Amino acid sequence: MTAIWQVDEHIFQKNVRSVKGNDAMMAVVKNNAYNYGLDFAVKAFLEEGINTFSTTSLSEAIRIRALAPHATIFLMNISYDFDSIRKYQIHMTLPSAAFYFEYKSQLYDIHVHLEYENLLHRSGLKNLEEIQSVLKDHTKNQKNKMNISGLWTHFGYADEFDVNDYEIEKKLWLELVTALLNEGYTFDFIHAQNSASYMREEGIFPYHTHARIGIALYGSRPYAALPRQAIQQALTLRANVIQIRTIHKDEHCGYSFAFTASKNNTKLAVVDIGYGDGVLRTRAQHEVLINGKSYPIRALMMSHMFVEVDDSVKAQDDVILYNEILRIDDYTFKGVGANSEQLSALNLDSLIKEYR
Ligand SMILES: Cc1ncc(COP(=O)(O)O)c(C=O)c1O
Repeated sequence: MTAIWQVDEHIFQKNVRSVKGNDAMMAVVKNNAYNYGLDFAVKAFLEEGINTFSTTSLSEAIRIRALAPHATIFLMNISYDFDSIRKYQIHMTLPSAAFYFEYKSQLYDIHVHLEYENLLHRSGLKNLEEIQSVLKDHTKNQKNKMNISGLWTHFGYADEFDVNDYEIEKKLWLELVTALLNEGYTFDFIHAQNSASYMREEGIFPYHTHARIGIALYGSRPYAALPRQAIQQALTLRANVIQIRTIHKDEHCGYSFAFTASKNNTKLAVVDIGYGDGVLRTRAQHEVLINGKSYPIRALMMSHMFVEVDDSVKAQDDVILYNEILRIDDYTFKGVGANSEQLSALNLDSLIKEYR
């Protein structure tokens, strides 16, 4: 028996359709499409009419090109492999004025999107003046030019509601966009909103061409105030009871006294999944479902877990760690870890992977 990572394609597709509505999306497919599988996700998004993708790795961008010959593919990190960027017609971020002035002659024919640093400070041009300096130089520089096709930023606080930093970063960004458009600059792509921003604004900002969405398309709510039915989770993580063991009061189980029984005849299900399969320690502080009933995890090991059960549980019963009831996003809101952190941890080399 082996634990199974399973995606219901119909639900996945239905969720994409409902999140997207009639808006233009740039689907974020980095890190193997949040571990849902790059090939699967790109094909599913194409079927729902999404033909703009972004990732952080050139090798993923090249794989997307093979899957989607006509798509716009945006590389959110820089790559210095300019020949491949040209060859596969990948759009790339322009992360700083220094990068522009150092590499402008080598970036010919490449489509770049000017990145605004904003409050995240991970990458990007510092302010309007820096962006204007690049645009002005680019206008002057007549031969062997790159194409400045886009303008973008990333919000660091869109899923924060207790502080006003999102309102600050949003205002700074919208003022910058308006100033550049008022100066007569035009961009084929203007994109800023991640799932949280897109959902809290109930749509795309004016003048923007795309929302750049990840987690909502993968079936998890970016913040707790959203109703559960706004987003549907297609993923199930299911393990198996290998056998039932009984221990008595004050006996321990698991490594280094992980759990001590407080009563005689404590029934423990040995389950065939552990942290080696990607179950986070924080997730193991919560329950699993067996035959529709909730049971506590008592110890987490590399390939196993102990779950305290009652007499109704038997060897070979299914053990659910995630499904439409035990949702990734609910555990996010309980502090287990970000949605993407829980998804990325799952080890698709050791779990059986099924799409159905
Ligand atoms: C630059 C950038 N844009 C968009 C996203 C998508 O964010 P989300 O998954 O919250 O929609 C991410 C995700 O980390 C990102 O790094």
